Amino acid sequence: MISSLICPQCGKCLEASGLQREDGEIEHGILACPEHEYPVVGGIPVLRFGGPADGQRKRAVELVKAKRYEEALEVMTGHPQATSDGMPLWLRPMAAFPGGRQAARRIRRHLSDRAARRLSIRLMRGPERFSARDIFRDYFKLHFKDGRNAFDYFFYRFGQPRHLAALSVSAAMPRTGKRVLDLACGFGHLTRGLVNCGERTAVGLDSEFFLLYVAKKWVCPEAEFIHADAVQAYPFKDGVFSAVTCCNSFHFFGDKECAWAEIRRVVDESAWVAVISLRNSLVPAPASNTALTPEGYAQLFGDWPSRMVAESEVVERYAHGKGPALAGGTPSRDLEGTGLLTMVASRKEDALRDYGEFSEWPHGRGNVQLNPLFKESAGTSREGVTLVRTSPSPHYEQDNPGMSEYMPDSVACSREDLVALKRHERSAGVLSLIDRFAAFDIPNHYV
Ligand SMILES: C[S@@+](CC[C@H](N)C(=O)[O-])C[C@H]1O[C@@H](n2cnc3c(N)ncnc32)[C@H](O)[C@@H]1O
Ligand SMILES: [Zn+2]
Repeated sequence: MISSLICPQCGKCLEASGLQREDGEIEHGILACPEHEYPVVGGIPVLRFGGPADGQRKRAVELVKAKRYEEALEVMTGHPQATSDGMPLWLRPMAAFPGGRQAARRIRRHLSDRAARRLSIRLMRGPERFSARDIFRDYFKLHFKDGRNAFDYFFYRFGQPRHLAALSVSAAMPRTGKRVLDLACGFGHLTRGLVNCGERTAVGLDSEFFLLYVAKKWVCPEAEFIHADAVQAYPFKDGVFSAVTCCNSFHFFGDKECAWAEIRRVVDESAWVAVISLRNSLVPAPASNTALTPEGYAQLFGDWPSRMVAESEVVERYAHGKGPALAGGTPSRDLEGTGLLTMVASRKEDALRDYGEFSEWPHGRGNVQLNPLFKESAGTSREGVTLVRTSPSPHYEQDNPGMSEYMPDSVACSREDLVALKRHERSAGVLSLIDRFAAFDIPNHYV
């Protein structure tokens, strides 16, 4: 990957130096053009520049040069802004007294520093000692006022309707042997799907280093990850990708024209661009104030042949074992009441066709395990097992409408099926669990 990178500030080539892993990639090192320097921390090139977090990048450069790699990792995975300003319930009475507020703040600060230190130690010990669930839990508790919903979103991310929509377009994308870019990849859930669906080399890009580090070490170690900003110049040479995906993120971008121009620059002539779970500003939803209308998106993407469809249709076709219907697309005016959209653009118009039956379930490729939403019911016998689908919260249900249409409330199977699943065997029972979305690809050390 390093040979495809350029300096995002001046566009010049980058020279690499540093500690190499067995696969030839750099674990800790420095990338430098004649004028600018960027650290590589934990295998992730840090190519985001400017803004309040720039101090972290510069500090990490100094620490990597001094071979203080663990400290560089701690700097990059720490948050530049203050941690959650929620006051624990038990400290609130103290804060209500005159003069108590400052003391309560100091205690809170001390507690959150301690929690940050604990998270940092867990990160360094890695997946052999701590699961992704442990890391997500610590992270969302520490940095979010109401971290529970964010935890549920990410931990129960596989199997969500938006994940199926993303797998559907990923499975349809041509396999050219070139890399694919997962823009604003978060913790790398879709990046993992891209690798599994097409035996591809995937590159995840996000502006949050912490998320990338978890993606690299826990969720998708097979992919490469780059810390950069989706609305700055991208640190890639022209045409190095065959496709770009962007799931549940594009509507957050401030300068969407910049993102779209950079996407077009970094893909080749066979390119396929898929923007999934794109919010429509005409259907109000939390965090949708930077979204555009369907017409606004149509104008933005209009210089390429493109199709926009209701995401619920892509999901419905997926549940029936079929890829996306892209031959016609839906006119913008007919999408005005549709909250979530899927957009696919390609320079090759013939790629925009209706995709038929999957040869294999996209969610069933890879490391198939039990869907963490399913739990064994209490009345289960020695031979027969009933798996019941649990709901993390009413918010999760609202955030994932349509899930109950393909994921049953309960699933019956045999004890042997669960043993076969644990052994990664593809028995008829395991295939039937995949058919019912009670089992799908999940990384090791996730649950
Ligand atoms: C809701 S999450 C979705 C993550 C992932 N694509 C998924 O589907 O699970 C939105 C992601 O967008 C990223 N993001 C937002 N603005 C960004 C920007 N300007 N550049 C890069 N990433 C950005 C956030 O850091 C976050 O990881
Ligand atoms: Zn430069």
